[in-house]
Amino acid sequence: MRPWLLVLPLFVSTGFSRLVAREGSKVIRVPFSKEKYPSHDVGKRDGVSKTAYQKLDNKRSTKDFLFYANITLGTPEQPLRLHIDTGSSDIWVETPGSEICRTSKNGCSIGGTYDNTTSSTYQYVEGNFAISYVDGQFASGEYAKDTFHIGGVGVSDVQFGIGFKGTSEEGILGIGFEARQSGVTKGQAEYPGLITQMVKQDLINSRAYSIWLNDLNAESGEILFGGIDAGKYDGSLTTIPLSKRTGFDRATDFIISLHGLTITNGDEEPRILMNESRTIPALLDTGASFTYLPQDVANQLVDLVGAQTVSEYKGPAVNCSKRAMDETFRFQFAGTSITVKLRDFIIDATDEPNEDNHILCYFGILGISEGSVLTLGDTFLRSAYVVYDMDNEEISIAQTIFNSTVTNILEIGIGPTAVPSVTRPSRVDSVPVTGTDSAGVSSSDPHSTTSGSPDISNSAAASSSISPLATFLTTFLISSLSFAVFL
Ligand SMILES: *[C@@H]1O[C@H](CO)[C@@H](O)[C@H](O)[C@H]1NC(C)=O
Ligand SMILES: *[C@@H]1O[C@H](CO)[C@@H](O)[C@H](O)[C@H]1NC(C)=O
Ligand SMILES: *[C@@H]1O[C@H](CO)[C@@H](O)[C@H](O)[C@H]1NC(C)=O
Ligand SMILES: *[C@@H]1O[C@H](CO)[C@@H](O)[C@H](O)[C@H]1NC(C)=O
Ligand SMILES: *[C@@H]1O[C@H](CO)[C@@H](O)[C@H](O)[C@H]1NC(C)=O
Repeated sequence: MRPWLLVLPLFVSTGFSRLVAREGSKVIRVPFSKEKYPSHDVGKRDGVSKTAYQKLDNKRSTKDFLFYANITLGTPEQPLRLHIDTGSSDIWVETPGSEICRTSKNGCSIGGTYDNTTSSTYQYVEGNFAISYVDGQFASGEYAKDTFHIGGVGVSDVQFGIGFKGTSEEGILGIGFEARQSGVTKGQAEYPGLITQMVKQDLINSRAYSIWLNDLNAESGEILFGGIDAGKYDGSLTTIPLSKRTGFDRATDFIISLHGLTITNGDEEPRILMNESRTIPALLDTGASFTYLPQDVANQLVDLVGAQTVSEYKGPAVNCSKRAMDETFRFQFAGTSITVKLRDFIIDATDEPNEDNHILCYFGILGISEGSVLTLGDTFLRSAYVVYDMDNEEISIAQTIFNSTVTNILEIGIGPTAVPSVTRPSRVDSVPVTGTDSAGVSSSDPHSTTSGSPDISNSAAASSSISPLATFLTTFLISSLSFAVFL
């Protein structure tokens, strides 16, 4: 049996204790499930010949996690599950009449569909919805508005796309900055996104949410709109301002400065991989499976774990037994640091031996060229509890507690000190996001041409991280190019 046949959509009830926030608090709690296999790929794979790429893709599928939330749309409510994506900023859903749902085997039943004709609260907006992601996925159709239910609350007049054409059987819940909406890159005006509507409708106090990804092997995590869960992290949250891209007076992405990186084994003196003289902007991306560091640093780590480019894998593969290594990384930010075990960067490539009877893992650190914005993906973010505060253009971060069963939900308020119980470092020196990225496009050139993709989507980054190197490079170039439009 191919490994992917073994992996059915995996939903696990979370068993979290009930919301314990004090009465009247404005927090929307949304448990999410992690699915080990993106189901929309099943259909895609059916017609594909057995190429090296396909093998890779199969392997990826078994241990690649995407995050899903159950929501409903319309009146009466139509249930859907959407893939949560902090890296894009539009919501779009499948509809029964779409090209892909009409031709797919299960008619998009896994993710669900939205039928405007049966919703009394449906409103037509306009016909020019189109979004594309760096991995080549896209969806296009119309914009609509309807009532959106999530985490037990109803949000009215939420704008979203209905995908008539596209590559995925499942819709996406993009919760990034409105400045990154797909239409904005094409010169359309921003529209109020889900989180703005939550604030306008007095469901949460400010545009802020927190994400607890939890352990790689845990099957669920949690997102809180308008709140934090102090039971899910160690010590206190430290607040760090987001970096703005050159030419922008506000933040458009969750980019902060990485001030240093060390690796240590037990009581050994830490080995400095990057010191403070090399402070680099880093994108926090829940969608990227891997973490992207400067090439020379990545090379040192590849040597340390003995990762290799195996022809069949193309990307860095490593013997899974290297999980026994005791090394721990320390990622240094202004006023705080997050530790991540080396073993958390070693990701199963497959559950089953391939034809040559080898079980290999992927090494979750890849190199990018000097001057690029780094990406701290899931391999890093699982070890962190992160509050994404769009109103104040800050993140607050702390060391996660894996598998914590303690729940202590606190409301995020209003204004500059909205996020409760945080520490603010006395010295804050975030570096501006300038320089040339790996595509060789000057990031300060606002006129760089791009296709206007919203890029860096969850699915995009997730697939780039496991694709053959060439695909990865292409993907990276595209994402860098699309970055350029904001610079
Ligand atoms: C989503 O809904 C499905 C089907 O009702 C259920 O099995 C699953 O546990 C739910 N997931 C979450 C995260 O609530
Ligand atoms: C649903 O959407 C389709 C496609 O845009 C449109 O033709 C139809 O009028 C809509 N249905 C209703 C009830 O508005
Ligand atoms: C968390 O729970 C998962 C699933 O039960 C388990 O595999 C994992 O080892 C746990 N992680 C830690 C750090 O205890
Ligand atoms: C930082 O690292 C560079 C080499 O990357 C080295 O030249 C420099 O002396 C180091 N600075 C400090 C303060 O350690
Ligand atoms: C992985 O390492 C183990 C232990 O060192 C070794 O027995 C095994 O042969 C290695 N596997 C591969 C595929 O190299």
